[in-house]
Amino acid sequence: MAGEEKRPRPLVAGNWKMNGLRGALAEAKAVADALAAQPMPLAANVLICPPATLIMVMAEILRGSPVMFGAQDCHRAASGAHTGDISAEILADAGASAIVVGHSERRADHGETDAVVRAKQAAVHRAGLTAIVCIGETAGQRLAGQTLDVVVRQLDRSVADGSTAANTVVAYEPVWAIGTGLTPTVGDVALVHGAIRDRLVERFGKEGHVMRILYGGSVKPQNARELMHVANVDGALVGGASLKAADFLGILAAYG
Ligand code: PGA
Repeated sequence: MAGEEKRPRPLVAGNWKMNGLRGALAEAKAVADALAAQPMPLAANVLICPPATLIMVMAEILRGSPVMFGAQDCHRAASGAHTGDISAEILADAGASAIVVGHSERRADHGETDAVVRAKQAAVHRAGLTAIVCIGETAGQRLAGQTLDVVVRQLDRSVADGSTAANTVVAYEPVWAIGTGLTPTVGDVALVHGAIRDRLVERFGKEGHVMRILYGGSVKPQNARELMHVANVDGALVGGASLKAADFLGILAAYG
């Protein structure tokens, strides 16, 4: 059962979304500097996913720092005639170590289905990177009492067979909690993360015990400690509060 295995090292990932001019690099640098100055190393891995234009500069800024950086999306193909898209291989070449796939904003804005998300996850693995696969119910689905069904179905369809704890992270993000300041109760988070864990263990056995399950949706310095200590919450995917170093560090303090 979950809990008998060694717990995974948590991951706190910042998703800058379509925010971040070059000036924002100072925020990433401030996070790296503050973590380097701490007497005790943080008990979590830290990842920042800026807009793709900043990735190569971030590689310079974060050189020698434990703060990793990644991307917010990729195309399923490795290269070719796909104007405006970017592949996992290109992102890997720029230094990314992880790529978010299936964020609810991609699903809503670009009609990405679970099958598309699964293909993108495969692309991330092909490029040797870690996929952060997002799932989560809408407000309507929650009201209709469908949360667990929706989340487990998305998990089954979006996460490919053969995924491992090293190459895959699941992010549970209730759509209604993203950018709204609303969060589920810790009881609800425990319930959903428990259901995700059970399904991961059913599908992936030992790997499923240690595959990280992040919570995302209005994580702030004020609620991070409480949310991050819920059973089967192995870190956070943070949007708005990852844009300012002070806020992001306030969230990271949950693992300080
Ligand atoms: P939020 O976004 O923290 O601004 O709610 C979370 C996300 O979309 O990953």
